[in-house]
Amino acid sequence: MKNSYLRKLQRRQSPNFLDFYSWVYSNSNSVCMHAFISLKICMNICLNKNKKQPTKFQASRGVNRKDLLRGVDSKFGERLLDEILDNTGVRLVDVSGCDTAKRALEEAVILPALNPSLFQGLRQPVKGILLFGPPGNGKTMLAKAVAHESEQVFLNISASSLTSKWVGESEKTIRALFQVAKNAQPSIIFIDEIDSLLTARKDNETEVSRRMKTEFMVQLDGASSSTEDRILIIGATNRPYELDDAILRRFPKRILIDLPDERARAELLHKTLAKHKMLDGLTDYDIRWIARSTDFYSNADLVALCKEAAMVPIRDMDRNKIAKTDGRKIRNLRVSDFKEALSSVKPSCNPKLMEELISFADRAGQK
Ligand SMILES: Nc1ncnc2c1ncn2[C@@H]1O[C@H](COP(=O)(O)OP(=O)(O)O)[C@@H](O)[C@H]1O
Ligand SMILES: [Mg+2]
Repeated sequence: MKNSYLRKLQRRQSPNFLDFYSWVYSNSNSVCMHAFISLKICMNICLNKNKKQPTKFQASRGVNRKDLLRGVDSKFGERLLDEILDNTGVRLVDVSGCDTAKRALEEAVILPALNPSLFQGLRQPVKGILLFGPPGNGKTMLAKAVAHESEQVFLNISASSLTSKWVGESEKTIRALFQVAKNAQPSIIFIDEIDSLLTARKDNETEVSRRMKTEFMVQLDGASSSTEDRILIIGATNRPYELDDAILRRFPKRILIDLPDERARAELLHKTLAKHKMLDGLTDYDIRWIARSTDFYSNADLVALCKEAAMVPIRDMDRNKIAKTDGRKIRNLRVSDFKEALSSVKPSCNPKLMEELISFADRAGQK
């Protein structure tokens, strides 16, 4: 019953929006991406702990700490702003694969910013996106890339900053968070590892945790039902099936960030090795061989594999010569280095977790 409702909910969204989008996307994907990248005005609030000056971005948008804290309980608001981090320099082009998620984020963040008048009524941007999937495939990275490249204020909130053991404090912090987001809109709230905050309610749950979830839900509803507020909530989790059903419903787009397929693995290997100038000595055929040999490896596993392979030429060297060797004189990587690395770097993915994620994606998500 519930699942068919969710499926209908998703189907109802797809026709108009996606048809329109696929046209825009196929015709102007790279244009949008370039426009997006060139609009790289730092959007993070990025108030760092020691230096409480407004950032360049805040100054340029006329957003300052005082504006952000308008109507916010100062005790909780100040603490929140101090914990907001992030200006990592990750760009969307650095994230391999994840095409569905990139598209959803573009629809929700980038295209509406280019021409807000187009995105009204049925085309109103989605207000909740849940990124779920096995660890190490780019959920956090994607959110950071959006943070870096979009023009919007990005509030990166950890579960620990929202939870407090004191009765009433978590709710106040959550209210402060949503008020800050409202003051700063258009804005994005990113909650990584959202499962640690909002798992399904259990009988033995503490009063503090129950009240915190209830407040979160109330605020989420307020933000998602208002047609004027432009607050996007992005959640990321490895265990979406543990989330409270009521929370899931507030994330109408639920996107699986899956393990990379062979093509995506080859792309990541190529990109990683090229970035570190270690591609010389490996042919396209070698890269394809490595990609074929790394079924079930996550992107993070592949990066670990490259690091391990990069160590082999050093291990082959005479120890006495290491101190005097010029880095440029170290031999190029060979496919045999990867063969050796493959024996020690294994896929971290847990088959049971994958099964649960795929079944969740079939039931309630999109791939
Ligand atoms: N799609 C990707 N493209 C490039 N690198 C990736 C990708 N996914 C993961 N990585 C690498 O793995 C690391 C961990 O990724 P992360 O985004 O934290 O994974 P998740 O949040 O899904 O667990 C990143 O810092 C990056 O080095
Ligand atoms: Mg993560």
